[in-house]
Amino acid sequence: MSRQVPFAAPLIGAAEIEAVTAVLRSGWIGTGAVTADTEQRFADYLGAPHVLLLNSGTAALHLALLALGIGPGDEVIVPTVTFTATAATVLHAGAVPVLVDVEPDTLRIDVEAVRRALTPRTRAVVAVHFAGRMADVRALRSLCDAHGLRLIEDSAHALPAERDGTVPGGIADAAAFSFFVTKPLTSAEGGLLTMADGDAAARARVLSAHGIDRDAFARHSFGRSPHYDVVAPGLKYNMPDTASALLRCQLDQADAMRARRRDIATAYLAALADLPGLRLPPVDTPTDTSSWYLFVVQLGDGLDRDAVAAELHRHGVGTSVHFRPLHQFSYYRTEVASAAGEFPVADDAFTRVLSLPIFPGMSDEDIEHVATAVRAVLEQAVGR
Ligand SMILES: Cc1ncc(COP(=O)(O)O)c(C=O)c1O
Repeated sequence: MSRQVPFAAPLIGAAEIEAVTAVLRSGWIGTGAVTADTEQRFADYLGAPHVLLLNSGTAALHLALLALGIGPGDEVIVPTVTFTATAATVLHAGAVPVLVDVEPDTLRIDVEAVRRALTPRTRAVVAVHFAGRMADVRALRSLCDAHGLRLIEDSAHALPAERDGTVPGGIADAAAFSFFVTKPLTSAEGGLLTMADGDAAARARVLSAHGIDRDAFARHSFGRSPHYDVVAPGLKYNMPDTASALLRCQLDQADAMRARRRDIATAYLAALADLPGLRLPPVDTPTDTSSWYLFVVQLGDGLDRDAVAAELHRHGVGTSVHFRPLHQFSYYRTEVASAAGEFPVADDAFTRVLSLPIFPGMSDEDIEHVATAVRAVLEQAVGR
């Protein structure tokens, strides 16, 4: 069988295996000292004042909304090109997601579309850092400040990333990160919430663990009182030390893994530059650097994206599609009024987008294999 390159694969080494094993042997596998230490390391890495490790990015988005007091009667502006969790968590908070279109080249939330969607009920904007490239957070911050709105970053794709002198969580009220298996850093499942305000972060922490005023580690430590109070109807979103131990090792390699992703992106950009009609993702600039979580190409007119993906699969290349816009899904079409709007950029992009393999464990031969297969399949598809 010839070479197979999957769409994504985590980079798990001896350090991760040893770190998780040490927690398993320690006698405490729940949320405890390792999670606290990992939180401190993320706070230092991101320069974030308040951080909370959680068991998913979805949990981080949900808690951001709850802790910022967003609920029934509120509208939250969300790009339609995103994963369903970005808008579903708004619904779980009891608020209404208002879908808006994205910018043509980068597929990031369109700031002018956000401005047009504002109503007296708007309470927040969730900016998605699509594919790992940060949305225009400085423009969004100004807009939110002018209208008294909260700015939340869905940074599931962007760790690390930088734009205009800031990083995810730098100027927003809250930022939510994901450590799902395919993400730039992974703990299999996991999430991180950073918040600007200490009181909101404290609310999020209580809500993340049943609304109980003391965490399990404090209650179950030898000699400590087992009694506690319940101060809110909480959730169960905390990250256990087994996952934090894995994540702490991943954080140690965050910059090296991003550098490898950037090398892969640079190689693809060079190898695919002259393919007619193919739109490549934007390049890094000194003020806009991606995590390179995804390498999303947009196919030229007249090509059948799913047929191209199937043909690449036959060449041993895994691909994915990011994203079918939310307004096209049956739930949003029937239950979310804004899904009836016009989203010309998202609709057009959805017919063209294809995500190529990009993960730090790829070898140079893997990169070459993917680039050669993409050239061959696209040249055949356009009949050259
Ligand atoms: C843009 C975006 N937001 C939120 C999430 C949810 O993260 P998680 O799977 O960790 O809950 C994901 C991904 O999986 C995502 O791609």
